[in-house]
Amino acid sequence: MSPKPPTNVRDVDLEKPNAARMYDYYLGGSHNFESDRELAAQVEQVAPFVKDIARINRAWLRRVVDHLMAQGIRQFLDLGSGIPTAGNVHEQAQRQDPATRVVYVDYEAVAVHHSFELLKDNENATVVWADVRNPRTVLEHEETRRLIDFTQPVGLLCAGLLLFIGDEYGPEGLVAAYRDACPAGSYIAISTMSQDEADPETRERLAGLLKLYEMADERIYPRDKETIASWFAGTDLVDPGLVLLHQWRPDRAADGSLAWPRHEESPARLLGYGAVGRRA
Ligand SMILES: C[S@@+](CC[C@H](N)C(=O)[O-])C[C@H]1O[C@@H](n2cnc3c(N)ncnc32)[C@H](O)[C@@H]1O
Repeated sequence: MSPKPPTNVRDVDLEKPNAARMYDYYLGGSHNFESDRELAAQVEQVAPFVKDIARINRAWLRRVVDHLMAQGIRQFLDLGSGIPTAGNVHEQAQRQDPATRVVYVDYEAVAVHHSFELLKDNENATVVWADVRNPRTVLEHEETRRLIDFTQPVGLLCAGLLLFIGDEYGPEGLVAAYRDACPAGSYIAISTMSQDEADPETRERLAGLLKLYEMADERIYPRDKETIASWFAGTDLVDPGLVLLHQWRPDRAADGSLAWPRHEESPARLLGYGAVGRRA
């Protein structure tokens, strides 16, 4: 990867809770600060299932990577990749084929710093410090160009990202910009937050969570299913389509039975949709 570290963490405002670092905390990571943990603890008070939201999303992302590897995808552009934690995309993919190339993109300094440290000896994985709302910056970045061959199918990952992108930035247009840079046979995977299927109590708790996130440096925007479906324009949805995350190609026991892990029985399972579209 590029010889110069993309950032250092001295510029980080330690007083301001940050959504990426709170997510790291929910997943049991150690790259978070006192302010992140304090707000995360308050969130847990009003929405005790918040850690399950993160776990369900990560489990979905792992299943997506496995599925795309099985379809022959060997290059991934992971937008809003977050702070490295167990089961990262490059680990999951390169375990199956070490030649798989992975470009992580995030704009949060701690996430980028730790990704850089983790990947500095990995020739096939890199991190780009950029705001995904500027697709040209991401797509034309020298590291992206070094590892992604845009004449070959790409696995475009937007896991837990678009819930942080307000309508004023046009999530649909952003997805389209990345989609259009990728050739036919590429896949777009999106998971994001929704309360369409939540029961009244879970909705109320989610409202408390959203309110608390107003104190962090990013707000959260749940979307309805129809809006999320519109982000897959220009693709054919892979079976089973756009569904609650835990319902998307769930892991099965050897006898074919479904045994949800405990966190997938949590109210959190009602709060996220995901799908994978194949570019026609
Ligand atoms: C909830 S985490 C998801 C991490 C990982 N994709 C996953 O699914 O486990 C969302 C990440 O998106 C990043 N993010 C949010 N808005 C972004 C933007 N405009 N540009 C780049 N990264 C962004 C945050 O910094 C954070 O690391």
